[in-house]
Amino acid sequence: MFNKRVKIKELLAKEEANYEATVMGWVRTFRNNQFIALNDGSTNNNLQVVVALGSFDDALLKRLTTGACIKATGEVIASLGKGQKVELKATALEILGDSDAEKFPLQPKKHSLEFLREIAHMRFRTNTFGSVFRVRHSLAYAVHKFFHDKGFIYLHTPIITASDAEGAGEMFRVTTLPVDGTAPKNEDGTTNFKEDFFGRSTNLTVSGQLEGELAAMAFSDIYTFGPTFRAENSNTTRHLAEFWMIEPEVAFNDLEDNMNLAEEFIKYVIRFAIENNKEDLDFLAQRLEEEDKQKPQAERSEMNLREKLDFVVNNDFERLTYTEAIEILKESNHNKKKKFQYLIEGWGTDLQSEHERYLVEKHFKKPVILTNYPKDIKSFYMRMNEDGKTVAAMDILAPGIGEIVGGSQREERLDKLTARMQEMNIPAEELNWYLDTRRFGACPHAGFGLGFERLVQFVTGMGNIRDVIPFPRYPKSAEF
Ligand code: 4AD
Ligand code: MG
Repeated sequence: MFNKRVKIKELLAKEEANYEATVMGWVRTFRNNQFIALNDGSTNNNLQVVVALGSFDDALLKRLTTGACIKATGEVIASLGKGQKVELKATALEILGDSDAEKFPLQPKKHSLEFLREIAHMRFRTNTFGSVFRVRHSLAYAVHKFFHDKGFIYLHTPIITASDAEGAGEMFRVTTLPVDGTAPKNEDGTTNFKEDFFGRSTNLTVSGQLEGELAAMAFSDIYTFGPTFRAENSNTTRHLAEFWMIEPEVAFNDLEDNMNLAEEFIKYVIRFAIENNKEDLDFLAQRLEEEDKQKPQAERSEMNLREKLDFVVNNDFERLTYTEAIEILKESNHNKKKKFQYLIEGWGTDLQSEHERYLVEKHFKKPVILTNYPKDIKSFYMRMNEDGKTVAAMDILAPGIGEIVGGSQREERLDKLTARMQEMNIPAEELNWYLDTRRFGACPHAGFGLGFERLVQFVTGMGNIRDVIPFPRYPKSAEF
C-alpha cells in the first residue's frame, strides 16, 4: 500500500497531467472544505489536493485538520489556480493519523524561532526548518562526496575516550559509578576510577583528531565526521555542547596545503548546496530579507544570502598572520575609539569574536584565514615555527559566524612535541600511543576541524546555531 506513493516534489516537478497518483503527507491547511495544502517534507511547495464538493462524507472532511496525516489518491490534473501547474483531484481519501486542531501547536501563521525551539519535535513541519534540514542533509552528503572523490578514508573515531585532545578540560565525564557519594574512593579521598566501567577515568570526545593522526600515518588521507562534545558554559549563538565536526588529517601536507584543502572544501560544499538546494536557499534568502527589514538600516546586510554564498565561492579567502591581524586591529578606529569590549593592546592575547568579526565583516569583507598564532594560546600538538614563539596554526573566520575552522600543521618532531607537552603539563604516559606515530615513521602532516553546524548556519543564514541541529544541547537544555 505505502510503496506506491509518489513524492510531492517529484509530482510537482514532472508537471504532467492526466494520470493517477497516490500521495501521503501532512495537512498544512484545508480551505473552503475543498482545498487541502499537503506537504510530505520533500519540498516546501505543498500539493493542492482538491476535494470535490459533495463527494466525501462530512465526517471525513471534519478530520482534515492542520497537522493530520492523510493518504490521497486521485487524478493529477492541470491546475486552474495560481501558484502551481498541477494539482490532485481526490477520488479516495484516508486519514492515517488525526490531529486535534485545538491542541496542535503549529498554527498556519508565523511562529518565532524561540517558540519553535521549545517544540523542536514539531518544528520539522514548518517551511523554515524543512529548508534548513534539507540543506543540512545536502551539506553532509557533499562532505562525504568531496573527500571520497579525493580518495580519503572515512575514519570512525571513538566517542568515549580517556584523552582530552584539545587540552582545554571541557569534557563530559562518562561513568557507571554511583553519583550518590558511594563510589569507591582512593586513600586520598578522590574517586577510584580503577573500579569504573573502563578501569579508568573516561569522557566524551572533544575531537577525533589524535586518533585521526594515527590513521593518517597509514592511509595518508583520512577524515572524520562525527559528534563531538564540549562542556563549555557558552550560552552563545555559535556554541553547542554537542556538535558535529569534520576533521581531515593528511600526511605530507604542510600549513599551506592545509589552507588550500580547507578553502577548496568549504567552497565545494557551498557550491553543492547552491546547485542542489536552489528552492530551499531562495526560501531562506527571502526569510532573511524579511528579518532584515525589521532591523535599523545600519545593521542590514549588504548582500542577500544568495549573493553572499556566490561571493564566497567565487573569491579567494584573505590570508594573513596573527601578527598582521593584531596590527590591523590595534590601528583600527574601532580600537582607538574604544569600541571593542576587549581592547587590543599588544601581541599575544587571544582574539575575541568581536575582533574576528571586525576583521571579516568590516575590514576585509570576506572569509579570512589567520595563521601562525602565539604558541601559548594554541594546543600542544601544533608545529613550532622557527621563531620559537608562534605555531603553524590556522583559523578560518567567516562573515556572520566568526571561527568556522581551526587547524594546524602538526608537530611531528618527537623531541619538540614532548618538550611542549611537558611545558603544558600534559602527561606523556597517557599519550604514549600518540607519541608512537612520532617514533615510527613520523612525517610532516596537517589537518583541521570544521564545525558542521557553523557551516550550516553560514549557508542557511540562520542566526542561532540552535536552529540548525535537530535537537540542540546547550547549558540547561537537553530536551527530546
Ligand atoms: O578549533 P577547534 O577546537 O579545533 C579542534 O578541535 C581541532 N582538533 C581540529 C583539528 O585540527 N582537527 O574546533 C574546530 C571547530 C571550530 O572552528 C568550530 O567551527 C567548531 O569546531 N566548534 C564548535 N561548534 C559548535 N559549538 C562548539 N562549542 C564548538 N567548538 C568548536
Ligand atoms: Mg579553535
